[in-house]
Amino acid sequence: MIWKQNNINLDRLSDVAQIFANIFSCGDVVILKGDIGAGKTTLVSSITSLLGTVDVVTSPTFAIVNTYEIYPKVKGLNKIIHVDTYRLDHLNEVYDLGLETIFDEEAVTFIEWGEKIEEYVDKNHFVIEIDESQPEDRNFVFQIKGEIPRDRQNKIEDELVRGGWENYG
Ligand SMILES: Nc1ncnc2c1ncn2[C@@H]1O[C@H](COP(=O)(O)OP(=O)(O)O)[C@@H](O)[C@H]1O
Ligand SMILES: [Mg+2]
Repeated sequence: MIWKQNNINLDRLSDVAQIFANIFSCGDVVILKGDIGAGKTTLVSSITSLLGTVDVVTSPTFAIVNTYEIYPKVKGLNKIIHVDTYRLDHLNEVYDLGLETIFDEEAVTFIEWGEKIEEYVDKNHFVIEIDESQPEDRNFVFQIKGEIPRDRQNKIEDELVRGGWENYG
């Protein structure tokens, strides 16, 4: 299922982020695609701040992994893991240690530059693709990859429709 939302400027980004904050929960993996400057980091920051992040902890193991601790917990969620594989040599750190070391059932994991990593992700995941339509605007595509329970899929679709996302089948 492909969902789209077009021409989102920075003023409207928090509406988009709020939908994602409502949708994602513990154990989810979200792959962010888009060129440099598309707005991947900005979206992750906006989602985490809506969830009420209290602290940023840089991983001692990976140069490219930050953990944002959430207190109080939101729907059982107490952390966001943010992986930015912007440099291939950094990406190799993740391959060397194994992707499972960054997946955490108590966290939502966002992976920037995820197209390089997606083929190694065998669990269900979500993909957000961001495209610069104009200097001040972005187009968003959202996809669910793999099978998720029907009731969860319905809830996600309700959120997207409420948020003005369009279904492209
Ligand atoms: N929805 C948006 N509309 C307009 N500008 C945006 C939007 N999202 C991000 N930006 C701007 O784009 C620039 C790059 O954002 P960033 O999140 O660092 O991109 P990326 O992580 O994809 O390289 C920043 O100046 C940011 O303010
Ligand atoms: Mg970035």
